Amino acid sequence: MPEFKKVCFSFLVIVFAVIVVARVVTLGVLLSRFRPHNGTCSKAAVAADSGKCSEIGRDILKMGGSAVDGAIAALLCTSVINPHSAGIGGGCMFTVMDSSGYVTIINARETVPAGVNPDLLKSCPKIMEWEEDSRWIGVPGEIQGYAEAHRRYGKLPWDILFEPTIRLAREGFPIPYIQGQHIPRIANTSLRKLYSDENGNLLKIGDIVKFEKLADTLEMIAKQGPDVFYNGSIAEDLIRDIQQAGGTHTLQDLASYKVTVTDAWTVPLGEYQMYFPPPPSGGAILSLVLNIMKGFKMNSEPKTADEKTLFYHRYIEALKFANGLKKYIRDPKFNSDEKAKNITEDSFAGYIRSLITNETHDDEYYNLTPYVDSTGTTHVSVLAEDGSAVSVTSSINDIFGSKVFSPSTGIILNNQLSDFCVSPDSISPGEQPPSTTAPAVLKSQSITLVIGGSGSPMITTGMATALMNHLWFGKSLKEAIDTPVVFVNSKNAVEFETNFEKDLIDALDALGHNRQTADKFYNVVNAVEKDGSCISAWSDERKKGKAAAY
Ligand SMILES: *[C@@H]1O[C@H](CO)[C@@H](O)[C@H](O)[C@H]1NC(C)=O
Ligand SMILES: *[C@@H]1O[C@H](CO)[C@@H](O)[C@H](O)[C@H]1NC(C)=O
Ligand SMILES: *[C@@H]1O[C@H](CO)[C@@H](O)[C@H](O)[C@H]1NC(C)=O
Ligand SMILES: *[C@@H]1O[C@H](CO)[C@@H](O)[C@H](O)[C@H]1NC(C)=O
Repeated sequence: MPEFKKVCFSFLVIVFAVIVVARVVTLGVLLSRFRPHNGTCSKAAVAADSGKCSEIGRDILKMGGSAVDGAIAALLCTSVINPHSAGIGGGCMFTVMDSSGYVTIINARETVPAGVNPDLLKSCPKIMEWEEDSRWIGVPGEIQGYAEAHRRYGKLPWDILFEPTIRLAREGFPIPYIQGQHIPRIANTSLRKLYSDENGNLLKIGDIVKFEKLADTLEMIAKQGPDVFYNGSIAEDLIRDIQQAGGTHTLQDLASYKVTVTDAWTVPLGEYQMYFPPPPSGGAILSLVLNIMKGFKMNSEPKTADEKTLFYHRYIEALKFANGLKKYIRDPKFNSDEKAKNITEDSFAGYIRSLITNETHDDEYYNLTPYVDSTGTTHVSVLAEDGSAVSVTSSINDIFGSKVFSPSTGIILNNQLSDFCVSPDSISPGEQPPSTTAPAVLKSQSITLVIGGSGSPMITTGMATALMNHLWFGKSLKEAIDTPVVFVNSKNAVEFETNFEKDLIDALDALGHNRQTADKFYNVVNAVEKDGSCISAWSDERKKGKAAAY
């Protein structure tokens, strides 16, 4: 070939190659639009239960913070945006995956104080109560949980994590709907002080609320470190206020509080491993429900009316058995966790599956002992740029916890001890109450899914519904979390979310499920997923949540 023609040929080859590459890139972009992502690919994300707190967590990640740093900042923010759900007067459970993929559990759930009335469980509430009640206050673990997580995985200085929330608490902000809707119910409790204007009238949605005492407390913890909460001036103020409200808590209870750090429990779920905390967390119960359903091999979304009825019938039956097994979720330091471990095995799921028939049965069949359902809690899911992940569920238990407000610290106290009422046979000083929380991380070759829920007993069905719809039925995170849930309450009655298909409800009624009308669904699932290098996040709209990413 003459020189000129050679050059010309090479030129044509290059032009052709460029066109091909451009085509492939365009096609890639087009294809990625069809993947079940919500919006664009991001490098890191936080899914908390409010847009404000997701943004605060996201900004911490952007500053070079680790997933743990982002999670702590988002949780602190939640203690003022959703103070009825969680705060430093409660406890939390972290599932942390480091950038090498190793998963560690940091358990900072509340404990029973030494001076507990041994007969406390004789007065387990029959319905959820709105009165102030100091008897159910557990020793708060929240701050020590943050401190341990930060000591192990923190990148930014401790005090930086507190700054955005201290500012928010001091300057105040209009009361958001989710927080404000509960204020009228606490009119006759010590929380009235927090929510009163200068004339003593209760604040409403949209009024400016400030958390000035809490801002002072957070500032002290930020500057002096966590010990000031457990063995310092905050401890003294807090214990004095709890005692004034009738509690038997002492300084020794706070000084002797210790977080527990353990490995995660794990179950295989298709191509994924699901990591979650051992008891007293409720992860074992969630894993059982998923394992039961996995074995029915319904790997695509049920389409026909019959398929849907069969799917939901089996799922409802699985949830009934799960309720009957909750009594085996206990603090492993006080009770053997052998049975709980067994519950997570495939063989146990197979055994339960064999008991699920095409009919419904009496309560005894499911080994149910009725208890009272509680409400509340918050969850934060985080994925950082370095691949590290945090799934953390934090709670003061019921809405506004015990309704005991500590005026000298600005802290709202939990009522976590009422969770012992699920199996009210014993309560020991130092013991942690059983829980339904299940902060999880799922990992496959190419995908990491960080997911968790709040809404106490609704956590199991909220998370199971989201996971089945996302992992097995191919729905996006948003669609999977939006999917209407069915909840089996503590009396094994079935409650359907308002937008649940009516024909399906009729078909399930016909099978003999005992149905109750639900007054409210408070399941809230927040998740972040990394698929290859693409991160997407979704916060549940049931709580008007919004995720944040960059
Ligand atoms: C508060 O107490 C007053 C007076 O006893 C009563 O009328 C009112 O219903 C109570 N409010 C709540 C929310 O319990
Ligand atoms: C509490 O702090 C004091 C000093 O400030 C120390 O002597 C004591 O050992 C601490 N107690 C505990 C239980 O950590
Ligand atoms: C574990 O589950 C199996 C059924 O899969 C059952 O036969 C066995 O008794 C269980 N063990 C315990 C300790 O509950
Ligand atoms: C349920 O299953 C049994 C045995 O497998 C069968 O005899 C019965 O007809 C079924 N009932 C319904 C309502 O499908």
